[in-house]
Amino acid sequence: MSKTHSMLILPGDGIGPEAMIEVKKIVTWLEENKDIKFDLSEDHVGGRAYDEYGTSLADHTLEKAKEVDAVMFGAVGGPKWDGVAYDKRPEAGLLKLRKELNLFANLRPAMCFEPLVDASSLKPELVSGLDIMIVRELTGGVYFGEPRGITELSNGQRRGVNTQVYETYEIHRVAHVAFDLARKRNGHVTSVEKANVMESGLLWREEVNVIAKDYPDVKLEHMYADNCAMQLVRTPKQFDVILTDNLFGDMLSDIAAMLTGSLGMLPSASLGEAGKGALYEPVHGSAPDIAGKGIANPIATILSFAMALRYTFDEPLAADLIENAVNEVLANNIRTADINQPGMTLVSTGEMGSHIVAAMEKLSN
Ligand code: IPM
Ligand code: MG
Repeated sequence: MSKTHSMLILPGDGIGPEAMIEVKKIVTWLEENKDIKFDLSEDHVGGRAYDEYGTSLADHTLEKAKEVDAVMFGAVGGPKWDGVAYDKRPEAGLLKLRKELNLFANLRPAMCFEPLVDASSLKPELVSGLDIMIVRELTGGVYFGEPRGITELSNGQRRGVNTQVYETYEIHRVAHVAFDLARKRNGHVTSVEKANVMESGLLWREEVNVIAKDYPDVKLEHMYADNCAMQLVRTPKQFDVILTDNLFGDMLSDIAAMLTGSLGMLPSASLGEAGKGALYEPVHGSAPDIAGKGIANPIATILSFAMALRYTFDEPLAADLIENAVNEVLANNIRTADINQPGMTLVSTGEMGSHIVAAMEKLSN
């Protein structure tokens, strides 16, 4: 008998819940047609959790997240919670989940689906065949460094402080993830920091060099973050695996996402030590401006679920099936608003999900 996969669904805010409904359609289809069994639970996170529980991540939700095989996360945040205390803001719930589950490696693949080459803001020849894996460090750096805060100075000025800090082990463990992935891909790691300005960047560079010695078969290149941003929009196909810190990874992955046509296409996996803890979420945010209208693109969330099938549930065939189905639907010119172009069929969030399920059905026959 196959194993039952336990998964906690945290739809969150904005377009998170709409996109998650489409994931649930796929879960149901897999259960009914592929005999893959899930033990699903669901809870609130972010602003919705603040409204329900008075905090953006309740203790019982965190406990559940630690018990399950994987967390499927939607998105958090929105103007409704702008006035909420800083430590209770929706984003704090996500950051706490990452930290408490020790999800230090964030994998953000930027792949250009062939039918979308014209949707990119770059020329088709620059993005056709694009396949980059960004490995973003996720539990350290300036996101979590101490000291931090805003203080009042005696001269009436205020002072805001955040600290960029990395220790050897944090760099080593995420570097291993990047080099291991590069081995299974095109054997090229680009490590990104600002060693020309920041000591933490210099340490990053030196410690990545230490790990590189274990991988003589992988080519390592170092690049400053500003140059990397420029290179990503100049010749993105030069990259295979980009290894970088929490803040630079946040920014560079938004750039990489847009190369693929839309931020609505990019999934991610956040992983801890082998087999311990995993969270899957789209790279895009809660998009409050379009929430509730049924026009959001559910593909990034659906592809995040495909990553869960691949990296946590050990169901690579189901993951392939979802990815192929997405490609098929796009090839049939079905588009949500964010990737729509003249002559294409514009569909709603729910229709996009149903088309993907139908394509899964068709591809399995
Ligand atoms: C991301 C998001 C988050 C981050 C926010 C929502 C806290 O932008 O996952 O890229 O900055 O890490
Ligand atoms: Mg971001």
